[in-house]
Amino acid sequence: MLVAKRNVLLQLDSDTQPSVFDSVVAIDSGADELLRHGGVEPIDVRPLVHGAIFTRGGEELRHTAIFIGGTDVATGEVLLREVLDSFIGPLRVSVMLDANGANTTAAAAVLTASRHVKVSGSRFLVLGATGPVGQRVVRLLAAEGASVRVASRDIQRARSVCQQIESRHPEAVLEAVETSSPDQTEDALRGVEAVIAAGAAGVQLVPEPMRTCAEGLKLAIDLNAVPPAGLEGVEPTDKAVERQGQVCYGAIGVGGLKMKIHRAAIGRLFESNDQVLDAEEIFALGRRLVEA
Ligand SMILES: NC(=O)c1ccc[n+]([C@@H]2O[C@H](COP(=O)([O-])OP(=O)(O)OC[C@H]3O[C@@H](n4cnc5c(N)ncnc54)[C@H](OP(=O)(O)O)[C@@H]3O)[C@@H](O)[C@H]2O)c1
Repeated sequence: MLVAKRNVLLQLDSDTQPSVFDSVVAIDSGADELLRHGGVEPIDVRPLVHGAIFTRGGEELRHTAIFIGGTDVATGEVLLREVLDSFIGPLRVSVMLDANGANTTAAAAVLTASRHVKVSGSRFLVLGATGPVGQRVVRLLAAEGASVRVASRDIQRARSVCQQIESRHPEAVLEAVETSSPDQTEDALRGVEAVIAAGAAGVQLVPEPMRTCAEGLKLAIDLNAVPPAGLEGVEPTDKAVERQGQVCYGAIGVGGLKMKIHRAAIGRLFESNDQVLDAEEIFALGRRLVEA
């Protein structure tokens, strides 16, 4: 009997309990069956992937896909490399990395910015730029031709992020800046058209008077949803809210687009068996969504 193939998503999560959030989004986005694995370590990956690639063949392979999650993005990146190394020529399935929501969040932030400023040629400040979300925001902005100040409390960490991104995008225009004091943060804000705050949850990075007095600043995006706000005075629900002449977005304001991108990316996985959806691919997919 011929049975229509169901879309099976293999969820590989480095946390002990695989993310319920990622599972629900997957089910809402076209996964008929979820194979949820928690506490996944690199050594576990090969047999799991082989189980996914040896069961269906040819055209049917596109009905199996892999999602890599977990709160630790660095581990997620290692798991992705293991997954890719485990494929055997055409015996492969599509795979998406969105550990800690870092790729979908960064893509949504940069696409949100592009609604208000021409990214190419504009000057951006990314605060908390050494975290997984911030690094991806810088990477995507650099690839789009923005000039980016890469901020950290530690200048060496900021330089190291710049070097990693320059090795991927030699044309990137990046400047490492230290923001360990209010004066340094004020200097970092000087002359930029947009700021994207990607600092740790619940950490205020810029007090309101400093933001509102930043000359030339047109756009303020805060990705931190946990009080206090990263950019004081920007509410989590702000979505293109104008405050003191600046267009403001909070984490929830960016979150709608993030969710849309996440859902579309899962759906896309089942279209062919050869896709690798990391930051750049997820950004490109998001761009097609916002332009549609
Ligand atoms: N809306 C969403 O769906 C969504 C999804 C994922 C993440 N997020 C949010 O996006 C933000 C970034 O996420 P992430 O995982 O990349 O963050 P993270 O790794 O926790 O932190 C980012 C950076 O913030 C800086 N930082 C940490 N503690 C600090 C402190 N006490 N004072 C000043 N700076 C501090 C650190 O940079 P330095 O040490 O180099 O200064 C760190 O690399 C978070 O607020 C997170 O909650 C939102």
